[in-house]
Amino acid sequence: MSAVVAPPLPLPPGSFGLPLVGEMNHWWLDPLRFAQDRHARYGPVFRTHLLGRPCAVLLGPEANRFMLSSHMHLFSSRAGWSPTLISLIGNGLSLIDGAHHRRHRTMIMPALHATAIPRYFTLMQRLVDTHAQRWLQQGQIKLFEGFKHLSFDIATAAILGMAEGPEAHAFADSFHVFSRGLFALPAWKSQLTPYGRAWQAGTKLRASLARIIAARRAAPDDSVLGLLLAASDAEGQGFTDAELVDELLVLLWAGHDTITSLLTWVYYELLRQPDVLARARAEQARVLSGGALEPQHLKQLPQLDRILREAERLHPPAPGGFRGVVEEFAYGGYRIPAGWTVMYSSVFTHMMPELWYEPQRFDPERFAPPREEGNKPFHLIGFGAGPRVCVGLAFAQMQMRVVLSHLLQTLEFELLPNQSFRPIPVPTKMPLDGLKVFVR
Ligand code: HEM
Repeated sequence: MSAVVAPPLPLPPGSFGLPLVGEMNHWWLDPLRFAQDRHARYGPVFRTHLLGRPCAVLLGPEANRFMLSSHMHLFSSRAGWSPTLISLIGNGLSLIDGAHHRRHRTMIMPALHATAIPRYFTLMQRLVDTHAQRWLQQGQIKLFEGFKHLSFDIATAAILGMAEGPEAHAFADSFHVFSRGLFALPAWKSQLTPYGRAWQAGTKLRASLARIIAARRAAPDDSVLGLLLAASDAEGQGFTDAELVDELLVLLWAGHDTITSLLTWVYYELLRQPDVLARARAEQARVLSGGALEPQHLKQLPQLDRILREAERLHPPAPGGFRGVVEEFAYGGYRIPAGWTVMYSSVFTHMMPELWYEPQRFDPERFAPPREEGNKPFHLIGFGAGPRVCVGLAFAQMQMRVVLSHLLQTLEFELLPNQSFRPIPVPTKMPLDGLKVFVR
């Protein structure tokens, strides 16, 4: 008797779009609408063409679990990034896989763990106070830019142990040119292209980081870098200088743009909902009762926690994530070939009416009992999930609470007229005009 051979599974439905650009123009402009439109047309698995390659998009919490946890061995994180970004950043944590990734993550984790970060509390408070006073003197600012400078100052002080001054300013300038080129098209390494400028800025940054590493090796300090220099793997080997330079570039990059984005959207929502703002302020007054913020207060701010989670849901700084497929697999009745990319979508998951009541509304109370929406794994994934969940999660959560507590107590912002809040979604979501406010 002859065996029955099952027909091969089909590829997912969808379109590869235009030659070369694929459907990049649609996704880049609005990743949520991109996913929702195609979900309505094709269902929760569809094919498209993004970042120069065929891509399968897998939608919903089960897809998130599949990609980020249960079947992550099928995927490469490195192969999910563009060649431009890889050439600039090298081998930092987000861009490595397998045993290499496990070794680095195990050595980095203790420096950013919830038990290590209270050491950065005072530094964060000092810097937010300095920046807030500067904003007050300026009278009006773009909050996105204000938060960007503040977050970068906190990142360089906490991660590198860098003091404010001319060296820090030059470093910040180079870093902003560098990060602007990360998502540029690959091109000549000339000053005329964003990629070329980023490459040259990267060369300067690498030289500065090498000097800083040498200085910290000679005189250890309490910074994240200080802890990374003391870390070792199972064989007792520490990071080499070259490994550290790449890791520091990733930590500085991943560690400030995201926080900048989320803080900006928190204020966008608070300024449009005075009752939520008033409740957040009342909570500060109750918990601090006129005194200064202390680390233990951060655990007593449920109202602020819910505001942050709701901003993460409605405005996740990254719309989702890509992986390269290393082994062909079947999902949802379709075949996804090796060499494609796959994408999970945080923006889509966070707006699913099956998971969230009136998902388009900013409603922090959805996280409070008895509703407790989003308390299931892979529903709220603004920080990713599974073994590669954001390694800076605790650091980010503390920083956002310290910054918001300080600002809620000391400053009033009022939206300026005639500005556009239209979101620019990629690479990290920001309002078109940067959220212009009067400061009082
Ligand atoms: C609001 C703030 C932040 C948000 C929303 C955020 C979001 C994310 C997300 C979504 C991922 C997972 C990407 C994926 O798997 O596809 C991630 C990973 C990562 N994040 Fe964050 N992040 C934030 C802050 C930070 C900070 C402060 C740091 C460092 C100090 C950091 C460093 C990293 C690194 C190194 C990874 C890669 C982890 C790995 O692959 O093992 N992030 N982050």
